[in-house]
Amino acid sequence: MGEGISDYTKFTVDLRRHMWKASVEMDLRRLIWQIAVMGKYISAKIHESHRKLAGFKNIYGEEQLTLDRSADEILKNQLEYSGFVREYASEERDAVIQIGKGDEKYFITADPLDGSSLVDTNLSIGTIIGIHKESILAEGKKTLAAAVYITYGPLITMVYSAGKGTHEFVLNREGEYVLSEENITLKERGDIYSLGGLRKEWTPAHLKYIEFLEKEGYKLRYSGGFVPDINQVLIKRGGIFTYPALKKSPNGKLRLLFELQPMAFIIEQAGGMATNGKQDILSIKVTELNQRCPIYIGSRFEVEKANEFLANG
Ligand code: AHG
Ligand code: MN
Ligand code: MN
Repeated sequence: MGEGISDYTKFTVDLRRHMWKASVEMDLRRLIWQIAVMGKYISAKIHESHRKLAGFKNIYGEEQLTLDRSADEILKNQLEYSGFVREYASEERDAVIQIGKGDEKYFITADPLDGSSLVDTNLSIGTIIGIHKESILAEGKKTLAAAVYITYGPLITMVYSAGKGTHEFVLNREGEYVLSEENITLKERGDIYSLGGLRKEWTPAHLKYIEFLEKEGYKLRYSGGFVPDINQVLIKRGGIFTYPALKKSPNGKLRLLFELQPMAFIIEQAGGMATNGKQDILSIKVTELNQRCPIYIGSRFEVEKANEFLANG
């Protein structure tokens, strides 16, 4: 057997053991574990859709909406009466719902299926979860206790942070999540950039920033899925993902509660940064459930540079 494979099987730390060793609070450990298990069911749902390559667009069209909603149902049903979750908010719902008795410790934000428009292309997609210790309509740095994202790709991987570093697990053939990268730490700067939004829609300040990165020789990595795109920056230990303010939509596209706060928590725990071009994502006041926000997220050098260019206008 190849060396890599034997290492892999010889020494495995599974998710529950890792969290216990990191002395993550018991209810939080059990909640994170439940969310990781949900990844298996959401993945099964994606496969059930029998996405054929021969573009059954109309089926796909229904499939896309169904997949978004069924991923949401899977998460909500699993978390309901889990004993840990008081309220559930999802990108697929227009209000926060109480799913517990009312005295549970945690509040959940979910992007059940991120990148659903990519299902027919068989590119990687994901699930993003924020775990809050109080009502979610407040700055992330006050409310977030943990964040999780799952990437449905050639492998199913799960990245989490409970405030004690950022760690990656791989779902193995036996259906266990085994530790693959512990205490992931971004370098000061990387060499990839992931650019959302149409170039002709970018503001002059953003364009100047991108031209700076191009002169520095950054390599373009953009799939259209926030989870796989930011996962690449994390696993390659550096670089920048941005979906900026656009001329017609000054708040950009991505959702503060469901996409940006959890990813900012995870990236900051890996020594990176996340801002809206001016202010840290985790200190932005939350005024509405579907609040959108421009995002610059990744290693420090690139995010600080973005703040500089945006400040100079
Ligand atoms: P979702 O599928 O949850 O709506 O998210 C899609 C988002 C995000 O995943 C990605 O970064 C962005 O949309 C891509 O937007 P464009 O298609 O405009 O590039
Ligand atoms: Mn999304
Ligand atoms: Mn989504």
